[in-house]
Amino acid sequence: TDQKATNVTWHDHTVTKVERRKLMGHKSAILWFTGLSGAGKSTVANTVDHLMHEKGIHTYVLDGDNVRMGLNKNLGFSADDRTENIRRIGEVAKLFSDAGIFVLTAFISPYRADRDRVREIMGEGEFIEVYVNASLATCEERDPKGLYKKARAGEIKGFTGIDDPYEEPAKAEITLDADTKSIDELAQEVVAYLDANGYLS
Ligand code: PPS
Repeated sequence: TDQKATNVTWHDHTVTKVERRKLMGHKSAILWFTGLSGAGKSTVANTVDHLMHEKGIHTYVLDGDNVRMGLNKNLGFSADDRTENIRRIGEVAKLFSDAGIFVLTAFISPYRADRDRVREIMGEGEFIEVYVNASLATCEERDPKGLYKKARAGEIKGFTGIDDPYEEPAKAEITLDADTKSIDELAQEVVAYLDANGYLS
């Protein structure tokens, strides 16, 4: 409906997804980390990335550093911009997954509908939602970038968890208790899920 280009047609890839996966030697999917700022999304995702890489899995992390400074540098933090941020990340992640690479994304992705839209463009079992569940109190106490302090002082408007919403996942495949467990424990839980569900072979 909102497609602007006309006279474009979809080209079927001649190398199939099944063939790509065979060459890779493993399945691919999106591991979608969501949670408040400071919950530990990026740190856990990068630790899982490292563990998977050691197991010979082809992986790639999409996070603020390579997305909000590049592809999405024209987007801010209004509701519409966050939705567009997540839409683009979802499309890029899908391309990575189609190419056979296991992609790990680490964005707040505060709106349930935005995350569900990514789930819908992926095949069954190809979207694994990982809720990095840390309470606002924990995140605010950590405040690694000093942003909660600024938000409380009114220096940042529309900060997630303070004066902007975060909608908790209703059906996350994995929920991590990021209030009490260490990064290594959380990363191991994710790898254990992948192993138990046949993603690593
Ligand atoms: S979103 O909501 O998914 O589009 O956000 P994301 O792309 O993950 O970016 C979140 C990081 O941007 C910083 N930041 C803010 N976060 C929330 N609300 C506001 N208003 C805001 N302004 C800047 C913040 O450092 C987030 O970092 P993380 O890595 O999540 O801690």
